[in-house]
Amino acid sequence: MNKEYLKVKENDLENVARDFSKLLKNFSNQNERSCIVFLQGDLGAGKTTFVKKLAKILEIKENVISPTFVLRKDYGNIIHVDGYRFEKEEEGKILSLDKELQDKGKIILIEWPERFAKAINLKPDFILEFTYLNNEERNMSIKST
Ligand SMILES: Nc1ncnc2c1ncn2[C@@H]1O[C@H](COP(=O)(O)OP(=O)(O)OP(=O)(O)O)[C@@H](O)[C@H]1O
Ligand SMILES: [Mg+2]
Repeated sequence: MNKEYLKVKENDLENVARDFSKLLKNFSNQNERSCIVFLQGDLGAGKTTFVKKLAKILEIKENVISPTFVLRKDYGNIIHVDGYRFEKEEEGKILSLDKELQDKGKIILIEWPERFAKAINLKPDFILEFTYLNNEERNMSIKST
């Protein structure tokens, strides 16, 4: 499956997040483990902004912040991870995600997975790609693997 969303404005992101939340629901109905989501795209492409919208759709009350400096932040069923600051792939081990990988219904959303995911053997169930177009618009794609 590959869905494309073109010229997405920040205000439209909520619709994309709602679409994606349905895919997440199907996934958790069909799998006895957590769902791993890679968020790919350059600095400022909109990865964190998307997680905020998704958290809203999933009715998470807490305020979502960028995990760039905390590396990992948990909100209800969401685990939001950012590999940007890792210098070596092995540093991904400090995230200690092993336990949660088995948790049905958990969603592990990962920014900058290319910096560490291989070293801890994380494979995505979905890849979301964000492409900067201009100040207000992004292209997006959702692939299931
Ligand atoms: N259509 C859009 N989608 C997403 N963000 C947008 C859009 N239009 C404008 N923006 C703005 O672009 C910025 C995106 O920043 P965000 O922190 O989400 O990026 P990021 O991909 O997480 O970057 P980083 O890799 O640095 O963590 C925000 O300031 C947001 O308000
Ligand atoms: Mg970010």
